[in-house]
Order: sequence, then C-alpha cells, then structure tokens
Amino acid sequence: MAMTSLDRAEAAEHAMSQELDRIVVKSVIYTSGERDPREPLPRQPDQGKHYMMGHDPRLPRMPDKPTLFDFFKLRFGPSAHVLQSARLATKNGVSEKIVLACLLHDISVMGFIRGDHGYWSAQLVEPYVDEEVSWAIRHHQVLRFFADESFGYKYPDSYIRLFGADYKPEPYVQEAYKYARDHKWYETSRLITVNDLYAFDPNVRVELEEFTDVVGRHFKQPKEGLGFDHSPSAHMWRTINWPTKYL
Ligand SMILES: [Fe+2]
Ligand SMILES: [Fe+2]
Repeated sequence: MAMTSLDRAEAAEHAMSQELDRIVVKSVIYTSGERDPREPLPRQPDQGKHYMMGHDPRLPRMPDKPTLFDFFKLRFGPSAHVLQSARLATKNGVSEKIVLACLLHDISVMGFIRGDHGYWSAQLVEPYVDEEVSWAIRHHQVLRFFADESFGYKYPDSYIRLFGADYKPEPYVQEAYKYARDHKWYETSRLITVNDLYAFDPNVRVELEEFTDVVGRHFKQPKEGLGFDHSPSAHMWRTINWPTKYL
C-alpha cells in the first residue's frame, strides 16, 4: 500500500518529535558542490551517541525482503513520469520487455543519483532483467540527446529550456551515441526515448499495480529481497534502503 498523505504527515511528526539517537554523517555525494569535499568535516559532538548503522527512523521501514514495488512505494520519489511512460509504451503496442524498460528507465533519478542516471538505473536492474532491457535503459541516457526522425523522435523542447539552446553533449556522449546507434538493440533503447514523456500530465494518475504482471513476468525478483541476494548491484539497493548508514 502506498503511504497516504496522512501517513506521511504522521511519520514526519514522529520523526520530528523523536530526537535521532544516532549520529548521521552525510555521504560526500550528498553535499559535494554545496561544500568543497576536500575540506575536513567539522566533527559534531557525539554526546556518547553511536553512529547510524542501519535503518534511519526518519524513513518508513522497509520489509526484510524488499521487492521492487517496496522500493517504489517506500524509497523512490514520485513515479508519475515512469508510470505514464510505461502506460504510453503499452498503448503504443510495444513488447512487454520494452514496457518494463520504460517503467524502470529513470529509477536512479527517483531513488539514487541523477547524473548519468541511465547508467545507474541499468546497473541497479541488470541482474534481474533481460540483457536487452538493461542495455536499452543504459543507452537511453545518450539517445535522448539525439533526434531520430525515422522513429518520430526529435530533440526535446524541454531540453532547450533546461540546458539552453547552445548546449552540446560532451564528446564522450557523442561517442556513446555512435556506439548505441549501430548496435543490434538500438531500436529497443530508442523506444524508451520515444515513450519517455518529457512533459507528463500532472492530472493523469497511473497505479503501479497496472504493471504487476509485466514485472512478475520480466523482473526476476530475488527471493532474499533486493539488497540481500549478493548480486552485483545488491549493495546499491541496500544503500537506497539505508541511505545514511555510516559504513
Ligand atoms: Fe531518463
Ligand atoms: Fe524519462
């Protein structure tokens, strides 16, 4: 069940009323830029408290064996964009694998790290999806900067607004694009960008459960739970589960 706004308000109140009994030190990536990471962190007086080494009580607790949907509901930010993209893909009659790729293509932006989000998203899901799905997610990162008229995909207007008319992708992006363009799975990845809603409708509500069957058929949910199956990306899921863990 998704948290209602009442649940959320209660959780926030609970968190505020409860003084954290653990010291939280933010990872460098949280603050680099706002502060120069080369500067030593001023050490806060610990007053005998221990450091955070597990569940952060300011967040809803995850089940012991968390599923993909648990992460969507308890850790990821708003998912309207990927849900609407996946629904559009379904409407456009693409294969279920591509619908799944659309559903997962931006999960890193929603729950982990923005920069290079296509690569991070792909890495998160790689052990659990068909190779073609993770390949497509990885390469949507660069394909969205390049038009392909044959698919009716043009450079997003929103990017002109967001990055300026003179923004030009860096040389390594151009190189990655050339590689992807000539790859046998180019079309799969291109279809993510075609169904990527650059301006999604705030009034359309799509429930995650609409994709229960697609996920059930094409996402190999580990029985130990995401984060606890020793896969190459298990540690990334654990970091999302316990984002303030000291070590
Ligand atoms: Fe994306
Ligand atoms: Fe997207």
